[in-house]
Amino acid sequence: MRMFFSRGMKRWGPLAAAVLLSPLLLTACGENSPSILNTAGPIAAHESDVFWAILWIATIVFVGVEGMLVYSIFRFRERPGMGTPRQNHGDLRFELAWTIIPMVILFVVLFYTIRGLFQVAPEAEPISSSTVTVEAIGHQWWWEFYYPKYHITTADTMHIPENTDIHVDLYSNNVIHSFWVPELTGKTDVVPGHSNTKWFKADAGTAGQDFLGICAEYCGTQHGNMRFSVHVDTTDSFQSWITAQQQAAVTPTSGSLAAQGEQIFSQECTSCHGIVGVDIKSASIPDPSVVCDAPSASCLIGPNLTHFGSRQYIAGGVLTNNVSDDGGQACNPNNPQLLQQCHLAQWINDPQGVKPGNDMNIGQLTPSQIKALVAYLEGLK
Ligand code: CUA
Repeated sequence: MRMFFSRGMKRWGPLAAAVLLSPLLLTACGENSPSILNTAGPIAAHESDVFWAILWIATIVFVGVEGMLVYSIFRFRERPGMGTPRQNHGDLRFELAWTIIPMVILFVVLFYTIRGLFQVAPEAEPISSSTVTVEAIGHQWWWEFYYPKYHITTADTMHIPENTDIHVDLYSNNVIHSFWVPELTGKTDVVPGHSNTKWFKADAGTAGQDFLGICAEYCGTQHGNMRFSVHVDTTDSFQSWITAQQQAAVTPTSGSLAAQGEQIFSQECTSCHGIVGVDIKSASIPDPSVVCDAPSASCLIGPNLTHFGSRQYIAGGVLTNNVSDDGGQACNPNNPQLLQQCHLAQWINDPQGVKPGNDMNIGQLTPSQIKALVAYLEGLK
């Protein structure tokens, strides 16, 4: 017995320990991974309702069936001198019971599923004058957000006001992506040549929060690095964001480091990027619904950088635009550790090292060119 026990321990001990410890390891993953059950808006709430309804039904079925099984194993086990048990093969009552009960259960599941489908369907979208429309354009591998009513183009972070219906038109001029913000809304494919739409809303009281967005359809080597963030504003802070974003880029003082940066931008970057007031006019920002979903059309290859310094993320959500981390000290052009500490400097210095395969193929810039570009771009608030 002792030998059996210790041999058993040797075999099952590590497995049992792994099973017991796995929740610890898995909770560590949860820190930055949004959960579809941690909802912050009505659409995500409808979707998680379907999950909970099916989970409860499945739990009741599991406990019921396993309970009867365990009970029968003990209650009707073979005992000495027992005769043949009563045979009930073909009993109509049993046949009806195990046909009708699962049918009823599946109809309940169907009810919750269909109700969920109708709740989130495009047809159920409330149309009102306060709805904010955003065009989300999937690129390889970053997201562009265009606000047609305001003529604003931004990247990597989508600003929305709280407690307001958001209508999203989804476009791609390359491959299929999928737009997913787990805490706000489920996945919708972003298909070239076909514009899907979706709608959602962030609950009142979520202002100030950021929700992680993910590309949920394999779209190439950097698919996993095609992230974005949805930043919820109050109605007022959304309006002031809009007003700020509608301004042309600030012109740096002539002779300053930032002015040198602007010149380098004009020479090295304008074949892909645009800045309102430098190489693009506000009115000429292409309307992506007309231009960017046509593969032959010309639209900016890279993000519009007009208000780059106000953005939270760069490089398709791979790096933080670490201006707010430490009062902007990391990206202060006088920082001797600029290349080590400033994400923008790292990105401009070696875009292929940061995110292999991306479209940014600039020639190697000198440290002083990088310094000037950082000074210029981070100043574009
Ligand atoms: Cu875009 Cu995956």
